[in-house]
Amino acid sequence: MPTFLVTGGAGFIGSNFILLARQNAWAKIINLDKLTYAGNLQNLTSLATDPDYIFVQGDIGDRPLLDQILQKYQPDYIINFAAESHVDRSILTPEIFIQTNVLGTFHLLEASLNYWQNLDPAKQKTFKFLHISTDEVYGSLAPTEPPFTETNLYKPNSPYAASKASSDHFVRAYFATYGLPTLCTNCSNNYGAYQFPEKLIPLMILNAVEQQPLPIYGDGQNIRDWLYVADHCEAIYRVLTDGRIGETYNIGGLNELTNLAVVEKICVLLNELRPCKNFDYGSLITFVRDRAGHDRRYAIDCTKITQELGWQPKENFGSGMVKTVHWYLDNSLWLARVRSGDYKIWLQQNYGDR
Ligand code: NAD
Ligand code: TYD
Repeated sequence: MPTFLVTGGAGFIGSNFILLARQNAWAKIINLDKLTYAGNLQNLTSLATDPDYIFVQGDIGDRPLLDQILQKYQPDYIINFAAESHVDRSILTPEIFIQTNVLGTFHLLEASLNYWQNLDPAKQKTFKFLHISTDEVYGSLAPTEPPFTETNLYKPNSPYAASKASSDHFVRAYFATYGLPTLCTNCSNNYGAYQFPEKLIPLMILNAVEQQPLPIYGDGQNIRDWLYVADHCEAIYRVLTDGRIGETYNIGGLNELTNLAVVEKICVLLNELRPCKNFDYGSLITFVRDRAGHDRRYAIDCTKITQELGWQPKENFGSGMVKTVHWYLDNSLWLARVRSGDYKIWLQQNYGDR
């Protein structure tokens, strides 16, 4: 069984990926995570006694630690999920996005290059570095423009997107310049279990259950392409095992929806699954001040990964959302813990006036 070094594996997508990887015995996992506000080891408690799962707390920008981990565990593949991932935070505090997403990825690339160059020839031949990125690097689409393909120009608009774009460029440069065997995936908006409730879907489910306002930015007509997280994780595994070195693969859910339609769907599901007498969750919808530089539309053309690797999403938005709403309703303890402490203070400081 191969060994994967997964960074950011205590976050939303990383923990889903690790759980799936261990369930399917894809690999032994070393999880390097700094445990920022978004990292949560509760996501991985089911692996507490798994001898093929190891957690290391640390920063992808810590070069001595990276060297030590690479020497000790000798991973076959590295998958870089670690990032600051929330657009609103990047508007308020952009510097940490440069620190982790740009400089952190740079240090990880440097350490990986040094490790790869010193591997024995057989292992050197099969080694891969997969960087997980976002469709937000391509900027915003007009209503009539076709979805993003891998050849679209990079036009990032938020500090988050700019930092991810920069890290993608470094990954590409390490392939072109030094021959490091890299791959990059650019994915649309994910949803599912274990997502930190500052992102649209979990935030709306939780607010609704607590009968709090559902704050939709601007006119609610911004469009995102939603992908169920397990489908994303399957796609990552496909790219890792069968993708062509040096290539980028776009991954999307084929679910373009306005934010208003997403929130209305959540309300309809909650009316069915958690009915309250004489109460419609939709009545909580509130339009609030728009996000600065709010991208109007993202959409992904995933022809390349479908044609080359035979991947396509298994869930449609309806089936994925039923699973997701059930998960948040059934995991109130996880939510209560996640929503306490630092997050509560941050919310009050930054959204107190909303
Ligand atoms: P997340 O915010 O839930 O998790 C990020 C994880 O990285 C956390 O566990 C955090 O502790 C860790 N981390 C942060 N800084 C670190 C550092 N310096 N060193 C080590 N660990 C650190 O994010 P997510 O939603 O799971 O996203 C994972 C990756 O996927 C990110 O690179 C993101 O850009 C990308 N992505 C996310 C989405 C989405 O919809 N969530 C879509 C496309 C791409
Ligand atoms: P988000 O989940 O933050 O993902 P991203 O900004 O990476 O796409 O937001 C998804 C969409 O939902 C985005 O258009 C912003 C919007 N949104 C709201 O309308 N209200 C909210 O409270 C949040 C968090 C997001």
